[in-house]
Amino acid sequence: MQSNGRRGPADGALVHLRAAGVSVVVDLRDGILPTIVHWGKDLGVLSSSDLEALALLSVPPVTSNTVDSVALVSVVPEHSRGWFGTPGITGHRDGADWSPEFVAVAVDRVSANGVDAFVVQASDSAARLGLSLNVELTASGLLRLRATLRNDDPASEYVLDGVVIALPVPTEADELLDLTGGHTRERIPQRQPFTVGRHERDNRRGRTGTDATLLVVAGAQGFGFERGEVWGVHVGWSGNHRTYAERSSSGESVIGAGELLMPGEIVLQPGAAYDSPWVYGSYGDGLDELSHRFHAWLRSRPQHPTRSRPRPVTLNTWEAVYMHHDQQRLFALAEAAAAAGVERFVLDDGWFHGRRDDTTALGDWYVDRDVYPEGLHPLARHVRGLGLEFGLWVEPEMVSPDSDLARAHPEWILRTGGREPLTSRHQQVLDLGMPEAYAYVLERLDALLTEYPIGCLKWDHNRDLHDAGHGPRGTAGVHLQTLAVYRLMDELRTAHPHLEIESCSSGGGRVDLGVVQRAERIWASDCNDALERQRVQRWSSLLLPPEMIGSHIGPPRSHTTGRTQDLSFRAGTALFGHMGIEWDITGSSAQDRAELARWVALHKRLRGLLHSERVVRSDHADPDTWVHGVVASDGSEAVYAVVAMAHRHRTRPGRVRLPGLRATTAYRLSVLSAADPLGTNDTTPPPWLAHSPVEMAGSVLSGAGLECPSMHPEHMLVLHVQPV
Ligand code: DGJ
Repeated sequence: MQSNGRRGPADGALVHLRAAGVSVVVDLRDGILPTIVHWGKDLGVLSSSDLEALALLSVPPVTSNTVDSVALVSVVPEHSRGWFGTPGITGHRDGADWSPEFVAVAVDRVSANGVDAFVVQASDSAARLGLSLNVELTASGLLRLRATLRNDDPASEYVLDGVVIALPVPTEADELLDLTGGHTRERIPQRQPFTVGRHERDNRRGRTGTDATLLVVAGAQGFGFERGEVWGVHVGWSGNHRTYAERSSSGESVIGAGELLMPGEIVLQPGAAYDSPWVYGSYGDGLDELSHRFHAWLRSRPQHPTRSRPRPVTLNTWEAVYMHHDQQRLFALAEAAAAAGVERFVLDDGWFHGRRDDTTALGDWYVDRDVYPEGLHPLARHVRGLGLEFGLWVEPEMVSPDSDLARAHPEWILRTGGREPLTSRHQQVLDLGMPEAYAYVLERLDALLTEYPIGCLKWDHNRDLHDAGHGPRGTAGVHLQTLAVYRLMDELRTAHPHLEIESCSSGGGRVDLGVVQRAERIWASDCNDALERQRVQRWSSLLLPPEMIGSHIGPPRSHTTGRTQDLSFRAGTALFGHMGIEWDITGSSAQDRAELARWVALHKRLRGLLHSERVVRSDHADPDTWVHGVVASDGSEAVYAVVAMAHRHRTRPGRVRLPGLRATTAYRLSVLSAADPLGTNDTTPPPWLAHSPVEMAGSVLSGAGLECPSMHPEHMLVLHVQPV
């Protein structure tokens, strides 16, 4: 990023950042830390006197029994300036210097590649601390901030307990939405009133978490996907983290986020600095707009996966063979996959030395010679000979107590208090903050990537970290571990430039914008049940675009829920992500295989659209009827799914609208896949289905909608819309 050369006194300006329908007006006058006076709807071109007026209009009254000079809260809230909520920086110098008051000393306005940004340098001479703040508004209107805190004292250390960045939201944002969940049931939304106090989503799992919220959103009551102003915050960090919404008794409201530090985790030596992760804020009129800003920003990055090639349809071996690896069986699976049109074959867990079940061998990253006498060469050759790319599962941070590695280096296990942590899935975690452990894992992965033609690593991480103490003293180690994993991924990607990484962590346990800078795909959930997947994908896509969300067609009877679903529902669900198959199709009927091949072909035909254009979801009155789709920004094509999530809640679901189409364009609506049977025993489908394809104006489809057939639960319609 280049500076435009403007460097000035920090008390100079009110800065107006504008992009894609968003305005952010920041007060930088009088040496205060950046204080947002407006973040939301675009305010248009504002003169400096307009900005002064806006700032004046934003100053709250002084009410009785509070400090005499009320100031708006800055993005790094300071107790010293009368903020009684969560401080931006918590820490101390041997008990002193715990309430900093920063004075901004310089502001650099920096802009590049459509990103409007500035950097503020601030210091607190009394506490001997320096603070640098990066504030950016991306071309898609996404607000990004990060802080660097420096210990400027030449002689004493500063114990840092935490840094959070807070973004103000207006009082009318009185409802909160965040996500929870767990293994095989990630991304369950929860809503509640935004009341006085703090709604805090702290995560001490040492990974992002299968229950991670992805975003905390505040909005005007009743907000939905299509409408209602919303403000959301996310922290791009794969270790312990904190995301929260906080409202004071006088009504000031913020949403904030940062890394969550354990006691003593960061002690800044003289001159040392701590870099916070990036915190992201997104505003929208409706959740679709909020999430589109994330998608558009991710897609604008040079490393975004669709820039180099279409996302390859994947076969993953996990639910097909689990750890029962047998070369002939895998050959046959690869052949069936190739016949179905698959483009990538990922060999999941079970290929390495001594790994016959999940109780052993993690860390022994050598190919098991009993199962693969000639290494992975024959399989990789076979797979590539079929025209498929070869991918491999690894779990680099982990070690089984029953492994050669753990026997040789018990001291490499993260631990504290002179005891080993409780095992989880029978495994422990390697202390990658230890140079020797890091070097071992790097060497093993690099050797595999050098020996075999591996296009993709499925990078798994199957346990939470607790008691994750680093080194001989067992000091809190998640911060170091997270940075080490990022470094490991970065080093491998530099050494093997075509390598892709799929971020998996017991399914969707490592989904965040930190890891996504170095991963092309996330594994959204270990649950391939399409009904659950509808939810997982709907809410994962609040943050990530569909091309980054792995979605597999599982076997007819789900291994995680026992539900049985038609192929049309399983495949129609996977159609909208980065499609894959996770099912032993060698045993499937010829009819199923032919149908599967048709779905794969359909995905390939549509993925250019699905993986680059705007995601839309309709707010339908019937909670069991979900409508989602992808619409080209020039209105030239759209694909929608109309999904019956449960047995008819209402006699008729009513009309469904297909959002996002151009009002005056004449469209042709056709059915790509219809749930079977359409219309239950005692009902008949709405007549338009018999007339399909039908032609009409976009305003009719998006505004008035069409009668939804009364489908069986767990069935769906896939609709295609193109201009006539
Ligand atoms: C958890 C992953 O999410 C699964 O897809 C599979 O890779 C297993 N781990 C393998 O142990």
